[in-house]
Amino acid sequence: MKLVKTKDETYTLYSEEFDECYHNIKDGALSESLKKHIEPAFLYAAKKDELTILDVCFGLGYNTLTTLYYLKKNNIDKKICIISPEFDKNLIKNLKSFDYPKEFDPLKNVINSLSKNFFYEDEKVKIEIKIGDAREVIKKIDKKIDILYQDPFSPKKNPLLWTVEYFKDISRIMNDEGIITTYSIAASVRFALYESGFRVFEREIEGVKKQTVASRKELPLKEIDIEAKKRRSSSKSLRDRDFMNNK
Ligand SMILES: C[S@@+](CC[C@H](N)C(=O)[O-])C[C@H]1O[C@@H](n2cnc3c(N)ncnc32)[C@H](O)[C@@H]1O
Repeated sequence: MKLVKTKDETYTLYSEEFDECYHNIKDGALSESLKKHIEPAFLYAAKKDELTILDVCFGLGYNTLTTLYYLKKNNIDKKICIISPEFDKNLIKNLKSFDYPKEFDPLKNVINSLSKNFFYEDEKVKIEIKIGDAREVIKKIDKKIDILYQDPFSPKKNPLLWTVEYFKDISRIMNDEGIITTYSIAASVRFALYESGFRVFEREIEGVKKQTVASRKELPLKEIDIEAKKRRSSSKSLRDRDFMNNK
């Protein structure tokens, strides 16, 4: 895997296997995580003392680590439980020596613990990296999820983590007020979210490309009229059967 410097000077990786970078180089790894996932999630999530977050998938862990950075920076006093599937065990084992941004310096003990034990816990935070296929991991989750960071590789490269069946599994474990954040603005992804019972919103802020936020509840964002889009579009939601043998 190749180390790549992104627009905000933070580093990501290029995956040969997926022929894609872990982050959008033009947005920046830390900026993308903060602006497309963590900020909207905490802006719109239920106002509870305890939040359960599903981070799909862990990769370099920017979304999990930026969550901790954001909570500290903004003096947010909440209990956080993060569950994060990832099938690349070697990647996690090597994260202790990854060139993270200085913002993560105070998180060195968290990074070391995750890299060694796939687990971290203190009084406020619990993080579990579940080594395995995200589709299987998600089926076994027995907690209700308040926030999903939907951040696999793109639908073209990682389609099984963007299908209607995938989002239906997600829907079963999301709280009624749950928030889904994703960088993807593809019609096929928005259709799949809608067909799985979510309302679909668009968020556009300065500094990064626009994004999709989904939830069952109303959000103070521009809502996409999916029925109207479907009438005008030739795109279709992705289905498992198109990518899996014997299904
Ligand atoms: C775009 S990267 C994740 C970026 C991540 N949020 C970060 O901060 O680095 C996608 C990750 O998904 C993992 N992945 C892809 N398909 C998976 C699957 N079916 N199950 C588990 N992990 C998967 C890859 O190994 C990769 O680490």
